[in-house]
Amino acid sequence: MSDATAAAFEGVTTVDGALRAASTVLAGAGVPSPEVDAELLLGHVTGLGRGVVRARAVTSAPLSVDEQEALVTAVARRASREPLQHITGRASFRHLELHVGPGVFVPRPETEGVAQLAIDALRAVPEASPLAVDLGTGSGALALAMASEVPTASVVAVELSAEAAVWTRRNIAAVGVDNLRLVEGDLADALPELDGLVSVVVSNPPYVPTGMVPRDPEVRLHDPALALYGGDDGLDLVRALSLTARRLLRPGGALVIEHGELQGGAIRDLLTADGWRSAATHPDLTGRDRATTAVR
Ligand SMILES: C[S@@+](CC[C@H](N)C(=O)[O-])C[C@H]1O[C@@H](n2cnc3c(N)ncnc32)[C@H](O)[C@@H]1O
Repeated sequence: MSDATAAAFEGVTTVDGALRAASTVLAGAGVPSPEVDAELLLGHVTGLGRGVVRARAVTSAPLSVDEQEALVTAVARRASREPLQHITGRASFRHLELHVGPGVFVPRPETEGVAQLAIDALRAVPEASPLAVDLGTGSGALALAMASEVPTASVVAVELSAEAAVWTRRNIAAVGVDNLRLVEGDLADALPELDGLVSVVVSNPPYVPTGMVPRDPEVRLHDPALALYGGDDGLDLVRALSLTARRLLRPGGALVIEHGELQGGAIRDLLTADGWRSAATHPDLTGRDRATTAVR
């Protein structure tokens, strides 16, 4: 831990003082939302929710020496730009609290909207027990959202990375769904036994062009390369998943793909050339084009 981090906490004995010290250290390290992260880290080390942390700050509640030591350690880790979710071990995704850490991609808020598109498509299927597939499942975020929010569906999650699959299995067990199974393998040749039987295929594939290394250290240094990079134009995995999804989906089945905000046009063209119908790109809550859907 740096001397500066320890110095910022010198003489601090209260929750509000600790939050100020933590925010100052995190802001100095370039962390994008220092106040929020300070509250979440204090909540993590004390086992309290963020609302309670704020209430204790208002009343200048005392912080124990042990709690303060744990906070200083956590703040030092975050100031080194380790992802917040690796320090807390958790990432929120819709109604789920997923386990995450080194070796698995941390699910992002924009993917919650991608999950909604897949869930809406799944709920619109007339069959009593539709089949859905998540290609490149990572923590299991999309697959678990579908399995838990559409309990009549059967969901298959595919993941190539053995390291990531450890986290998928852990999350499936923690959420406790029995309508989701994980298959380890390459999405390019996954699940031939399900050809023509699937109603919805969703994927948040690696889509960063190889030359566009992300600026944020949290992403560049801590998300697995296999989860990020998709070849020269970022679309290598999209091309593969277009072919796999066409094979898996029954006629009328839906494909939902997350992508970078400038990739919608190229993906619609690619899908249309592969024979997909009604390719359409959808903005996320901030107005950025982040998902494309198409019909088999
Ligand atoms: C951007 S991450 C998305 C993870 C998760 N679906 C989410 O939205 O948070 C992409 C995932 O695809 C996996 N992956 C990459 N190439 C793959 C392949 N050829 N076959 C299957 N999975 C792959 C990566 O290991 C990673 O877990």
